[in-house]
Amino acid sequence: MAYPDTRMRRMRRDDFSRRLMRETTLTADDLIYPVFVHEPAGRAPVPSMPGVERLSIDELLRVAETASELRIPALALFPVTAPEAKSADAAASWDPDGLCQRAVRALKARFPQLGVITDVALDPYTSHGQDGLVDGDGYVMNDATVEALVRQALSHAEAGADVVAPSDMMDGRIGAIRMALEEAGHVHTRILAYAAKYASAFYGPFRDAVGSAAALGKADKKTYQMDPANSDEALREVALDLDEGADMVMVKPGLPYLDIVRRVKETFGVPTFAYQVSGEYAMLKAAAANGWLDERACALEALLSIRRAGADGVLTYFALDAARWLREG
Ligand code: PBG
Repeated sequence: MAYPDTRMRRMRRDDFSRRLMRETTLTADDLIYPVFVHEPAGRAPVPSMPGVERLSIDELLRVAETASELRIPALALFPVTAPEAKSADAAASWDPDGLCQRAVRALKARFPQLGVITDVALDPYTSHGQDGLVDGDGYVMNDATVEALVRQALSHAEAGADVVAPSDMMDGRIGAIRMALEEAGHVHTRILAYAAKYASAFYGPFRDAVGSAAALGKADKKTYQMDPANSDEALREVALDLDEGADMVMVKPGLPYLDIVRRVKETFGVPTFAYQVSGEYAMLKAAAANGWLDERACALEALLSIRRAGADGVLTYFALDAARWLREG
Protein backbone atom coordinates (compact mmCIF):
# COMPACT_ATOMS: atom_id res chain seq x y z
CA MET A 1 0.00 0.00 0.00
CA ALA A 2 1.42 3.26 -1.11
CA TYR A 3 0.77 6.91 -0.37
CA PRO A 4 -1.72 8.20 0.67
CA ASP A 5 -2.89 4.96 2.40
CA THR A 6 0.54 4.65 3.88
CA ARG A 7 1.81 7.80 5.49
CA MET A 8 4.88 6.95 7.54
CA ARG A 9 4.60 10.28 9.30
CA ARG A 10 1.29 9.38 11.02
CA MET A 11 3.05 7.31 13.65
CA ARG A 12 5.77 9.90 14.08
CA ARG A 13 3.30 12.70 14.69
CA ASP A 14 2.98 12.48 18.47
CA ASP A 15 5.21 11.52 21.32
CA PHE A 16 2.84 8.74 22.46
CA SER A 17 2.92 6.88 19.15
CA ARG A 18 6.64 7.43 18.73
CA ARG A 19 7.09 5.84 22.16
CA LEU A 20 4.78 2.94 21.33
CA MET A 21 6.63 1.99 18.16
CA ARG A 22 10.12 2.44 19.57
CA GLU A 23 12.08 -0.79 18.96
CA THR A 24 15.25 -0.28 20.96
CA THR A 25 15.72 0.84 24.52
CA LEU A 26 18.72 2.14 26.38
CA THR A 27 18.74 1.98 30.18
CA ALA A 28 21.33 1.98 32.95
CA ASP A 29 21.08 -1.84 32.87
CA ASP A 30 22.91 -1.78 29.52
CA LEU A 31 25.96 0.12 30.73
CA ILE A 32 29.36 -1.04 31.98
CA TYR A 33 31.67 1.67 33.31
CA PRO A 34 35.42 1.28 32.60
CA VAL A 35 37.57 2.80 35.36
CA PHE A 36 41.31 3.45 35.67
CA VAL A 37 42.94 2.69 39.03
CA HIS A 38 46.35 4.00 40.05
CA GLU A 39 48.65 3.72 43.09
CA PRO A 40 49.00 7.40 44.10
CA ALA A 41 46.46 8.98 46.43
CA GLY A 42 43.59 10.92 44.92
CA ARG A 43 42.64 11.45 41.31
CA ALA A 44 44.56 12.40 38.18
CA PRO A 45 42.86 13.57 34.98
CA VAL A 46 43.48 11.83 31.65
CA PRO A 47 44.12 14.78 29.28
CA SER A 48 42.93 13.04 26.11
CA MET A 49 39.73 11.86 27.85
CA PRO A 50 38.09 14.93 29.44
CA GLY A 51 35.97 13.89 32.42
CA VAL A 52 37.89 10.63 32.95
CA GLU A 53 40.29 10.33 35.87
CA ARG A 54 42.72 7.76 37.20
CA LEU A 55 41.55 6.84 40.69
CA SER A 56 43.13 5.62 43.89
CA ILE A 57 41.29 2.69 45.46
CA ASP A 58 39.60 5.10 47.93
CA GLU A 59 38.36 7.25 45.08
CA LEU A 60 37.33 4.14 43.15
CA LEU A 61 35.03 3.22 46.03
CA ARG A 62 33.38 6.66 45.80
CA VAL A 63 32.83 6.20 42.08
CA ALA A 64 31.50 2.69 42.69
CA GLU A 65 28.97 4.12 45.11
CA THR A 66 27.76 6.58 42.48
CA ALA A 67 27.59 3.82 39.86
CA SER A 68 25.57 1.64 42.26
CA GLU A 69 23.16 4.46 43.00
CA LEU A 70 22.68 4.93 39.27
CA ARG A 71 21.97 1.18 38.95
CA ILE A 72 24.90 0.54 36.62
CA PRO A 73 25.38 -3.25 36.78
CA ALA A 74 29.17 -3.47 36.56
CA LEU A 75 32.55 -1.74 36.48
CA ALA A 76 35.47 -2.80 34.28
CA LEU A 77 38.82 -2.25 36.01
CA PHE A 78 41.98 -1.05 34.28
CA PRO A 79 45.08 -0.66 36.45
CA VAL A 80 47.76 1.92 35.75
CA THR A 81 51.04 0.22 36.62
CA ALA A 82 53.96 2.30 37.87
CA PRO A 83 56.86 2.12 35.36
CA GLU A 84 59.13 0.45 37.94
CA ALA A 85 56.60 -2.40 38.39
CA LYS A 86 56.68 -3.23 34.65
CA SER A 87 58.91 -6.04 33.43
CA ALA A 88 59.56 -8.30 30.45
CA ASP A 89 57.66 -11.20 32.10
CA ALA A 90 54.77 -9.05 33.40
CA ALA A 91 55.05 -10.75 36.81
CA ALA A 92 53.11 -7.93 38.49
CA SER A 93 50.03 -9.03 36.53
CA TRP A 94 49.42 -12.09 38.74
CA ASP A 95 50.63 -10.64 42.04
CA PRO A 96 47.90 -11.47 44.61
CA ASP A 97 48.60 -8.08 46.20
CA GLY A 98 48.78 -6.22 42.91
CA LEU A 99 46.81 -3.03 42.34
CA CYS A 100 44.07 -4.73 40.35
CA GLN A 101 43.66 -7.56 42.86
CA ARG A 102 43.50 -5.10 45.78
CA ALA A 103 40.97 -2.98 43.93
CA VAL A 104 38.79 -6.03 43.30
CA ARG A 105 38.87 -7.05 46.97
CA ALA A 106 38.03 -3.52 48.12
CA LEU A 107 35.13 -3.25 45.68
CA LYS A 108 33.64 -6.66 46.49
CA ALA A 109 33.93 -6.00 50.25
CA ARG A 110 32.04 -2.69 50.02
CA PHE A 111 29.65 -3.30 47.10
CA PRO A 112 29.05 -7.05 46.83
CA GLN A 113 26.14 -6.59 44.44
CA LEU A 114 28.13 -4.50 41.94
CA GLY A 115 29.65 -6.63 39.16
CA VAL A 116 33.43 -6.40 38.87
CA ILE A 117 35.04 -7.15 35.52
CA THR A 118 38.81 -7.39 35.20
CA ASP A 119 40.92 -7.02 32.09
CA VAL A 120 43.13 -10.02 31.34
CA ALA A 121 46.07 -8.91 29.19
CA LEU A 122 49.68 -8.09 29.94
CA ASP A 123 50.04 -4.64 28.38
CA PRO A 124 49.78 -2.61 31.60
CA TYR A 125 52.61 -4.74 33.03
CA THR A 126 55.08 -5.27 30.19
CA SER A 127 58.03 -2.94 29.75
CA HIS A 128 57.42 -3.04 25.96
CA GLY A 129 53.67 -2.37 26.11
CA GLN A 130 52.58 -5.47 24.19
CA ASP A 131 49.68 -7.58 25.47
CA GLY A 132 51.91 -10.66 25.71
CA LEU A 133 55.45 -11.96 26.20
CA VAL A 134 57.81 -11.26 23.30
CA ASP A 135 60.65 -13.26 21.76
CA GLY A 136 63.99 -11.82 20.64
CA ASP A 137 62.40 -10.31 17.53
CA GLY A 138 59.64 -8.61 19.49
CA TYR A 139 57.04 -11.12 18.27
CA VAL A 140 54.34 -11.86 20.84
CA MET A 141 54.62 -15.55 21.73
CA ASN A 142 51.19 -17.13 21.90
CA ASP A 143 51.50 -20.15 24.16
CA ALA A 144 53.88 -18.65 26.72
CA THR A 145 51.54 -15.66 26.94
CA VAL A 146 48.52 -17.91 27.50
CA GLU A 147 50.27 -19.42 30.53
CA ALA A 148 50.81 -15.96 31.99
CA LEU A 149 47.21 -14.97 31.23
CA VAL A 150 45.94 -18.05 33.08
CA ARG A 151 47.94 -17.02 36.16
CA GLN A 152 46.59 -13.48 35.88
CA ALA A 153 42.98 -14.60 35.45
CA LEU A 154 43.25 -16.99 38.42
CA SER A 155 44.60 -14.20 40.62
CA HIS A 156 41.64 -12.02 39.62
CA ALA A 157 39.14 -14.79 40.38
CA GLU A 158 40.83 -15.46 43.72
CA ALA A 159 40.53 -11.76 44.57
CA GLY A 160 36.79 -12.04 43.87
CA ALA A 161 36.34 -10.79 40.31
CA ASP A 162 32.91 -11.76 38.98
CA VAL A 163 33.98 -11.60 35.35
CA VAL A 164 37.39 -11.95 33.76
CA ALA A 165 37.69 -10.33 30.36
CA PRO A 166 40.65 -11.43 28.25
CA SER A 167 41.44 -8.57 25.86
CA ASP A 168 44.73 -9.93 24.56
CA MET A 169 43.60 -11.85 21.41
CA MET A 170 45.94 -14.84 21.93
CA ASP A 171 44.72 -18.12 20.45
CA GLY A 172 43.38 -20.66 22.92
CA ARG A 173 43.36 -18.42 25.97
CA ILE A 174 39.63 -18.73 26.66
CA GLY A 175 39.84 -22.53 26.85
CA ALA A 176 42.95 -22.47 29.01
CA ILE A 177 41.45 -19.91 31.41
CA ARG A 178 38.15 -21.77 31.58
CA MET A 179 39.87 -25.06 32.43
CA ALA A 180 42.05 -23.44 35.09
CA LEU A 181 39.06 -21.69 36.68
CA GLU A 182 37.11 -24.96 36.83
CA GLU A 183 40.07 -26.83 38.33
CA ALA A 184 40.51 -24.15 40.98
CA GLY A 185 36.82 -24.31 41.90
CA HIS A 186 35.93 -20.93 40.41
CA VAL A 187 32.96 -22.38 38.61
CA HIS A 188 30.88 -19.18 38.80
CA THR A 189 33.49 -16.85 37.33
CA ARG A 190 32.18 -15.57 34.02
CA ILE A 191 34.38 -15.01 30.99
CA LEU A 192 33.70 -12.01 28.79
CA ALA A 193 35.86 -12.65 25.73
CA TYR A 194 37.13 -9.72 23.73
CA ALA A 195 36.44 -12.04 20.81
CA ALA A 196 36.51 -9.62 17.89
CA LYS A 197 39.03 -7.03 18.90
CA TYR A 198 40.44 -4.99 16.06
CA ALA A 199 43.88 -3.43 15.65
CA SER A 200 42.24 -0.03 15.89
CA ALA A 201 43.69 3.46 15.99
CA PHE A 202 40.84 4.45 18.32
CA TYR A 203 42.64 3.07 21.41
CA GLY A 204 45.10 5.98 21.58
CA PRO A 205 43.67 7.84 24.58
CA PHE A 206 43.35 4.58 26.55
CA ARG A 207 47.04 3.87 26.03
CA ASP A 208 47.78 7.35 27.39
CA ALA A 209 45.55 6.63 30.38
CA VAL A 210 47.24 3.36 31.37
CA GLY A 211 50.69 4.52 30.30
CA SER A 212 51.27 1.81 27.69
CA ALA A 213 51.58 4.29 24.80
CA ALA A 214 55.09 5.35 25.77
CA ALA A 215 56.16 1.74 26.31
CA LEU A 216 54.71 0.65 22.96
CA GLY A 217 56.34 3.47 21.00
CA LYS A 218 55.95 2.95 17.26
CA ALA A 219 55.15 -0.76 17.57
CA ASP A 220 51.64 -2.01 16.80
CA LYS A 221 49.46 -5.00 17.71
CA LYS A 222 48.62 -6.22 14.21
CA THR A 223 50.02 -9.72 14.74
CA TYR A 224 47.25 -10.49 17.22
CA GLN A 225 44.46 -7.90 16.97
CA MET A 226 42.22 -8.16 13.90
CA ASP A 227 42.51 -6.32 10.60
CA PRO A 228 39.76 -3.65 10.41
CA ALA A 229 39.08 -4.85 6.87
CA ASN A 230 37.74 -8.23 8.01
CA SER A 231 34.29 -9.40 8.98
CA ASP A 232 34.09 -13.20 8.40
CA GLU A 233 37.18 -13.57 10.56
CA ALA A 234 35.27 -12.01 13.46
CA LEU A 235 32.69 -14.78 13.27
CA ARG A 236 35.43 -17.41 13.42
CA GLU A 237 36.96 -15.72 16.45
CA VAL A 238 33.60 -15.59 18.23
CA ALA A 239 32.82 -19.23 17.37
CA LEU A 240 36.16 -20.35 18.82
CA ASP A 241 35.78 -18.34 22.02
CA LEU A 242 32.26 -19.69 22.58
CA ASP A 243 33.48 -23.20 21.93
CA GLU A 244 36.26 -22.71 24.47
CA GLY A 245 33.82 -21.60 27.16
CA ALA A 246 33.17 -17.86 26.90
CA ASP A 247 29.90 -16.76 28.56
CA MET A 248 29.79 -13.41 26.77
CA VAL A 249 31.53 -12.02 23.72
CA MET A 250 32.62 -8.54 22.82
CA VAL A 251 33.19 -6.53 19.68
CA LYS A 252 35.63 -3.66 19.96
CA PRO A 253 35.59 -0.77 19.02
CA GLY A 254 31.88 0.04 18.86
CA LEU A 255 30.52 2.61 16.44
CA PRO A 256 32.88 1.88 13.51
CA TYR A 257 32.11 -1.86 13.88
CA LEU A 258 28.31 -1.98 14.19
CA ASP A 259 28.11 -4.33 11.20
CA ILE A 260 30.21 -6.82 13.18
CA VAL A 261 28.00 -6.45 16.25
CA ARG A 262 24.97 -7.20 14.09
CA ARG A 263 26.52 -10.27 12.44
CA VAL A 264 27.72 -11.68 15.75
CA LYS A 265 24.35 -11.24 17.44
CA GLU A 266 22.45 -12.69 14.48
CA THR A 267 24.78 -15.63 14.00
CA PHE A 268 25.24 -16.75 17.60
CA GLY A 269 22.41 -15.23 19.67
CA VAL A 270 24.63 -15.07 22.76
CA PRO A 271 25.20 -12.22 25.23
CA THR A 272 27.03 -9.72 23.06
CA PHE A 273 28.77 -6.55 24.17
CA ALA A 274 30.48 -3.69 22.42
CA TYR A 275 33.17 -1.38 23.72
CA GLN A 276 32.71 2.28 22.88
CA VAL A 277 36.43 2.88 23.16
CA SER A 278 38.51 5.80 24.34
CA GLY A 279 38.89 7.34 20.88
CA GLU A 280 35.14 7.30 20.30
CA TYR A 281 34.69 9.05 23.62
CA ALA A 282 37.46 11.57 22.88
CA MET A 283 35.95 12.47 19.49
CA LEU A 284 32.56 13.27 20.98
CA LYS A 285 34.10 15.18 23.88
CA ALA A 286 36.32 17.26 21.60
CA ALA A 287 33.48 18.16 19.26
CA ALA A 288 31.22 19.01 22.19
CA ALA A 289 33.92 21.16 23.83
CA ASN A 290 34.09 23.17 20.60
CA GLY A 291 30.35 23.62 20.56
CA TRP A 292 30.14 21.59 17.32
CA LEU A 293 28.01 18.75 18.71
CA ASP A 294 25.45 18.38 21.47
CA GLU A 295 27.29 16.00 23.81
CA ARG A 296 24.30 14.53 25.56
CA ALA A 297 22.22 13.96 22.42
CA CYS A 298 25.13 12.53 20.43
CA ALA A 299 26.43 10.28 23.22
CA LEU A 300 22.96 8.82 23.83
CA GLU A 301 22.41 8.37 20.09
CA ALA A 302 25.73 6.53 19.72
CA LEU A 303 24.91 4.23 22.66
CA LEU A 304 21.40 3.55 21.34
CA SER A 305 22.87 2.74 17.93
CA ILE A 306 25.17 0.16 19.47
CA ARG A 307 22.14 -1.40 21.18
CA ARG A 308 20.14 -1.30 17.91
CA ALA A 309 22.97 -3.12 16.13
CA GLY A 310 22.45 -5.99 18.57
CA ALA A 311 24.60 -5.37 21.63
CA ASP A 312 23.09 -6.36 24.95
CA GLY A 313 25.33 -3.89 26.71
CA VAL A 314 28.03 -1.31 26.13
CA LEU A 315 31.28 -0.53 27.89
CA THR A 316 31.35 3.24 27.84
CA TYR A 317 33.18 6.09 29.54
CA PHE A 318 29.85 7.94 29.32
CA ALA A 319 28.20 5.39 31.65
CA LEU A 320 27.72 7.69 34.67
CA ASP A 321 26.57 10.66 32.60
CA ALA A 322 24.37 8.49 30.39
CA ALA A 323 22.69 6.90 33.40
CA ARG A 324 22.01 10.39 34.80
CA TRP A 325 20.71 11.70 31.46
CA LEU A 326 18.43 8.68 31.11
CA ARG A 327 17.11 9.22 34.61
CA GLU A 328 16.35 12.88 33.83
CA GLY A 329 14.49 11.68 30.73
C1 PBG B 1 44.57 -3.69 26.26
C2 PBG B 1 43.29 -2.95 26.12
C3 PBG B 1 43.13 -1.86 25.27
C4 PBG B 1 41.85 -1.38 25.49
C5 PBG B 1 41.25 -2.19 26.44
N1 PBG B 1 42.16 -3.17 26.82
C6 PBG B 1 44.09 -1.17 24.38
C7 PBG B 1 44.88 -1.93 23.40
O1 PBG B 1 44.51 -3.02 22.99
O2 PBG B 1 45.93 -1.40 23.05
C8 PBG B 1 41.30 -0.18 24.79
C9 PBG B 1 40.12 0.48 25.41
C10 PBG B 1 39.87 1.86 24.93
O3 PBG B 1 40.48 2.37 23.97
O4 PBG B 1 39.00 2.50 25.53
N2 PBG B 1 44.56 -5.03 26.38
